[in-house]
Amino acid sequence: METKVLLPTQENIETVGQALSRGALVGIPTETVYGLAANALDGEAVSRIFKAKGRPADNPLIVHISDISQIERFGLVREIPDGAKKLMDAYWPGPLTIIMKKGDVPDEVTAGLDTVAVRFPSHPVTQKIIDAAECPLAAPSANTSGKPSPTTAYHVLHDMKGRIPYIVDGGMCEVGVESTVITLAGETPVLLRPGGITPAQLESVLGHIEIADAVLNKLRDGETAASPGMKYKHYAPGARIVLIKSDDDKYIEYVNAQKGTGAAALCYDEDVGRLEVKAYPYGKKNDYDSQSMRLFTVLRKIDEDAATLVYGRCPDTTGKAMAVYNRLIRAAGFEVIELA
Ligand code: TXA
Ligand code: MG
Repeated sequence: METKVLLPTQENIETVGQALSRGALVGIPTETVYGLAANALDGEAVSRIFKAKGRPADNPLIVHISDISQIERFGLVREIPDGAKKLMDAYWPGPLTIIMKKGDVPDEVTAGLDTVAVRFPSHPVTQKIIDAAECPLAAPSANTSGKPSPTTAYHVLHDMKGRIPYIVDGGMCEVGVESTVITLAGETPVLLRPGGITPAQLESVLGHIEIADAVLNKLRDGETAASPGMKYKHYAPGARIVLIKSDDDKYIEYVNAQKGTGAAALCYDEDVGRLEVKAYPYGKKNDYDSQSMRLFTVLRKIDEDAATLVYGRCPDTTGKAMAVYNRLIRAAGFEVIELA
């Protein structure tokens, strides 16, 4: 199958909208990462997403909408809890996914769970594509399973070439990491995945929320994940990545001591001039927006270069940095060295 990369002209959006409503898969931009979309009401189309990505069948998908009224119109959930309404008012459209009790959604989307994840993206092109398809779109990130999520149309082409008919090029994703995922299907709200909307932003609307253990820690053997996606090794480049918890000087000194071994550095922009090994800067120090925007592109570059050992700066674990930390600690397989 030939894969066409299309600019988001009105004509092209109509073309992919029709393709989606007929059951095709399309790579679509969103403000977080690119998605691999199918008609969420068509179980057969949705099952092709799992094949194209090599995604485990027990890992459910997010349903994307372009207007809050579509939740009721398509009967996506059993009811919208009060807390969910407040979150929608505050942060939709935007990088926030809300899990609620499932309504009339094919089992292929929810992997047989009795809950469904819903998101209203803010990217104007995503909204236009959903409008043109005239149906909600099920879409995971458009990477091959186990690879960093795609933040450009080129990344999607790299992973999906020959497997899908269309990719819409909406430019580089602004947020750069996947949406925040919170479940409101139980008694207390639980954060399942940190993203562009921070825990403090969620708590300002909901009051106290819990943070699932797997957000910051490795699942223990036999522990069940609150969200199936958390049990898989995500964002894993080919290289061994080791995170270094330390101040600036100790990091530079430690990494420069490895000069000549082929080790590289996944560092802040400010570190580059002081490093004597190959540097992969992923953003400015303390600027978590720039870090999250570039992180996946840099991880893909490390893959392309077939780097073998990379020492990464370990971000903070709280606030806006939590989303970056959550992705990096997984890429590192939870390997951290603390320099006193
Ligand atoms: O920003 C995003 O959310 C992107 C763009 C394309 O919208 N999508 C995305 O989808 O990251 P995906 O499939 O890569 O990640 C969805 C995560 C997975 O970890 C999955 O296990 C979890 O959400 N999830 C989906 N439905 C769930 C449910 N009903 N209960 C618990 N976790 C769920
Ligand atoms: Mg994903």
